[in-house]
Amino acid sequence: MASLSRRRLLGAGAALTAGAAGWLAGGRWLTPGEPGTLLRSQVPPPEPYRVALPIPPVLRPVRTDATTDHYEITQRVATLSIVPGLTTQAWTYDGTFPGPTLVARSGRRVVVRHRNELPEPSVVHLHGGHTPADSDGYPMDVVLPTGIGRHHDHHAYRDVAHGFRDHTYPMAQRAATLWYHDHRHGATGPAVWRGLAGFHLVHDDEEDALGLPSGDRDVPLMITDRSFAADGSFHYPASIHDSHMNGLLGDVILVNGAPWPVLETVPARYRLRLLNASNARRYRLALDPPPRGGRGLVQIGADGGLLARPARHDTIDIAPAERFDVVVDFARYRPGTRVRLVNRLGAGATAEVMRFDVTSGTGRDESVVPERLSTIDTLNPGQAVATRTFHFQLRPDRGWTINGLPYRAGRALARPRLGTTEIWRLISDFHHPVHVHLDPFQVLGRNNGAPGPYDQGWKDTVDLRPSEAVEIAVRFTGHAGTFMLHCHNLEHEDMAMMADFTTE
Ligand code: C2O
Ligand code: CU
Ligand code: CU
Repeated sequence: MASLSRRRLLGAGAALTAGAAGWLAGGRWLTPGEPGTLLRSQVPPPEPYRVALPIPPVLRPVRTDATTDHYEITQRVATLSIVPGLTTQAWTYDGTFPGPTLVARSGRRVVVRHRNELPEPSVVHLHGGHTPADSDGYPMDVVLPTGIGRHHDHHAYRDVAHGFRDHTYPMAQRAATLWYHDHRHGATGPAVWRGLAGFHLVHDDEEDALGLPSGDRDVPLMITDRSFAADGSFHYPASIHDSHMNGLLGDVILVNGAPWPVLETVPARYRLRLLNASNARRYRLALDPPPRGGRGLVQIGADGGLLARPARHDTIDIAPAERFDVVVDFARYRPGTRVRLVNRLGAGATAEVMRFDVTSGTGRDESVVPERLSTIDTLNPGQAVATRTFHFQLRPDRGWTINGLPYRAGRALARPRLGTTEIWRLISDFHHPVHVHLDPFQVLGRNNGAPGPYDQGWKDTVDLRPSEAVEIAVRFTGHAGTFMLHCHNLEHEDMAMMADFTTE
């Protein structure tokens, strides 16, 4: 399709949506500019900057062979201490929040057996994984806990496993920061809020050769917001439909499960793998104070791995499920400086995220950030074989929808052919972080203009702001079957802003 007519269509779609957004802003559910509604903790929030940043444990394989690393994870309720003086009954992967980190090698298969000992059925999805459909965590493919067995009503499910399920991840993909989390239809928001999320890192030879900061200077940072109930548990409303229709915001910011933690850093480069695992909250992250000369957040990677070259930012906007891989050089600060990672979209305590205390340190920093990081294979929109439009909108009669339809399992909204490039036009009424399973994509433009500053490289989640039209190029490869496309505001997702697509 010629780019002129594509533009015209895009313009028409955006205009239509702008009208809907006006109606919505005057409606009773949405507050303009807020991606959700705050739920206050029933206990006094903890004091910021009192605890050290925890690093999630790295999971050891139970068995390895020539081709495969085998892991086991038990999903269970565990008692955590997060707020001083209280305990938190959380839903966990293997007893911790975040769950244990899996460290994988590109091209080497990973098999994870997930056992469910939670009080409810569960589904686990590897976000960013290039995964065959039967291991991808389709929201209707549940694992029933051993206890509730055969008596549970499971007519609605597509596939039911009793007690455990094995997930096969070929890991035929680039080095990248992936994460795993619960994905059961209609119940993802509360399950993730209660603690079901963890990192899954993929390394490869290309990345190894670069000399980026590594070891304990390669730090995964899972940022979430939570509210606490009077008994110390993660507070989730009984019904989100009336009170938290547009997404749930907490009043305590946790990084790797700890409230506003502190990391002592030596004056050297650190690789910080930023993940926004919040249900609905968006953050505008910045270093305060900024280093001399500014642009202290040196982005080296996006959701789908390394960028072609580093992108230097003063602030980074990060929507739910997005990852930004950044290098911060703490040698640009005087020893003794306390550097806060702040959230310029927050207010009061939610404007603070964590702190880096720069020590005097000793020794040399051998790491580098090369100006050439990787080669990005650019998808050519001129070769697109199809153009599809997906409207993400609130329908007063139906709730959160895609193209006017609430999720129905088995109804595919698209049937892309493997190996071909398509253009997908994503149009929003409100804030919608749109996620596509199976393969990453490239952002072609926003509102008929250039991509935004945070759209570079391979993405699997793109932040749509109210009344935006974002064009992406997608190309699915490798696995035929049914996958998901959805809003990653987990309350929107649970209220059916999700669709199947089937690759063939
Ligand atoms: Cu991170 Cu379909 O999800
Ligand atoms: Cu995903
Ligand atoms: Cu949404």
